[in-house]
Amino acid sequence: MDDTQKDIEEEGEMQQTLVLIKPDGLKKSLTGNILTKLSETRLTIIGSRVVCVSRELAEKHYEQLKGRPFFDDLIVYIQGKHHHCERVLALVYQGPVAIQKVRTIAGATNPEEAEPTTIRGAYGRITTKGVYENVIHASSSPSESEREIKLWFKPEEIVVPLYPTKKVIKDRIEITEWA
Ligand code: PPS
Repeated sequence: MDDTQKDIEEEGEMQQTLVLIKPDGLKKSLTGNILTKLSETRLTIIGSRVVCVSRELAEKHYEQLKGRPFFDDLIVYIQGKHHHCERVLALVYQGPVAIQKVRTIAGATNPEEAEPTTIRGAYGRITTKGVYENVIHASSSPSESEREIKLWFKPEEIVVPLYPTKKVIKDRIEITEWA
C-alpha cells in the first residue's frame, strides 16, 4: 500500500476542492501566509492559476446566490474592483476529506464569527457597507467542487486526471474539454 492509499484508509474519502485567494488577499500580500496556513492540511496542490475575473465568470461561480441582497457587491468584490486588483489566485487541493479540511482552516464565512486562528478570522473584515471581505473561497461540497473546478480550470491545467473529458475541434484544432 503506498502513502496515498494509506492516507485514504486512515483519513477518509479522496476529494478535490477549489480555493480562491480573493483580491483583498492578493492586494494585502497575504498569499504566502494563506498558503502556509493551508499547508497545515497536508493536502496536495494539483492546479493553480492567476485569473482576471470577468463578470460572466463571477456570476457563474456564484450563480446559486442570484437574488440575494449582497449579490451585486459580491460580484464587484470578486472581480477586484474594490481593491484595484483585478485578479484572484485559483488553486485546486486534493487529498482525504479535502473539502472539510480547507473549510476548517478557512473559518466561518462571516469574518467576525470566524475563529481568530483561521484565515478569515485573522485576515477578513466586513466593510462599512456590510460586504464580507473574507479573503478566501473554499468549495462547500463534492458536487460544488466539481462544478467550480470545471468552471475555473481546463482539463490540461490540472496535473492529474479528475473528471471525464471529450475531444472537440475548434478552429481546426483538436482540444480537450470537460465532457
Ligand atoms: S457558505 O460558506 O457558502 O455556506 O456561505 P453562504 O452564507 O451561503 O455565502 C455564500 C457566499 O456569499 C458570500 N456572502 C457575502 N458576501 C458579501 N456580503 C455579504 N453580506 C455576504 N454574505 C455571504 C460568502 O462570502 C460566500 O462566498 P465565498 O466566496 O464562499 O466566501
